[in-house]
Amino acid sequence: MSFPTVRLRRLRATPTLRDMVRETMLSASQLIYPLFVVHGRNVHEEIGSMPGVYHHSVDRLAAEIDELSALNIPAVILFGIPAHKDPIGQENFAEDGIVQQAIRAIKAANPAILVITDVCLCEYTDHGHCGLVRGNEILNDETLDVLGRVAVSHAQAGADVVAPSGMMDGMIGAIRAALDSAGYPGVSIFSYAIKYASAFYGPFREAADSAPSFGDRRTHQMDPANAREALREAQLDVEEGADMLMVKPALAYLDIIRRVRARFDLPLAAYNVSGEYSMVKAAAARGWLDERRVVLETLTAIRRAGADLILTYHAKDAAAWLQSWE
Ligand code: PBG
Repeated sequence: MSFPTVRLRRLRATPTLRDMVRETMLSASQLIYPLFVVHGRNVHEEIGSMPGVYHHSVDRLAAEIDELSALNIPAVILFGIPAHKDPIGQENFAEDGIVQQAIRAIKAANPAILVITDVCLCEYTDHGHCGLVRGNEILNDETLDVLGRVAVSHAQAGADVVAPSGMMDGMIGAIRAALDSAGYPGVSIFSYAIKYASAFYGPFREAADSAPSFGDRRTHQMDPANAREALREAQLDVEEGADMLMVKPALAYLDIIRRVRARFDLPLAAYNVSGEYSMVKAAAARGWLDERRVVLETLTAIRRAGADLILTYHAKDAAAWLQSWE
């Protein structure tokens, strides 16, 4: 049958009908909110390149957590900005490190909020690289030991989930082994399995002060031109014991989300990264885009591509808007 018997506009005629035939649902329960934590007291400082996103000191976290739970956002992912940087990133696995303090404060404020921690070296090292460095080389296997120590330290402080983002080969297996032998078999690993060497991370590097002092991340992060290789990355992480997978960034990589969804049965997340956020904020500030509609359309598209969960700086706004979306 075809037109005029078939008329697809029939099912678009009223808000009720449109709601009932909607294929993709977006809800606050699928959102993960990134938090940047800094030393000091009473710090709540907006990040220049990311309007609406702040550096928080530990004493300001409880208020933030209250706000998130009122919006039904179930999870945060923590990024720490250390007091001192060094070649190894000692504060990354220090008992009183900034992330360790933040985990304890959040769990004290609300134990039901899921605490995910980013596990990488780049915010903590003086050279800004995701691994240990010898000359101009980013070392792989030597870095795995440090990643294991960081994950265990986060688990000790009370993290529910660790999210390694450094794209070192073997990082999932090394972290699983370290967690298990330290007595944390119940802590999940959320792998940034497919992370591209992307210019969309620009604003984050200002927020986390993590830009590399020389070179770039192309010897470990993926070439944006590659898709089959993404499946190999995911496969390895699954074999090494990842509990959940992530594709990052999201918007320029919706095809990758779709392919990973089709091949693997693990929960899949997409990271709607800093540059994607800042572009929308900049255009909205000039009145060039309707921020609310663009954000909800974008997040719905990421879900439609196949992501179960979305890490996004828009989480709070989106959760509030969702309560009144049609
Ligand atoms: C690395 C890390 C980065 C992001 C998350 N974890 C930056 C990088 O790889 O340079 C980027 C997130 C974003 O842009 O929003 N620890």
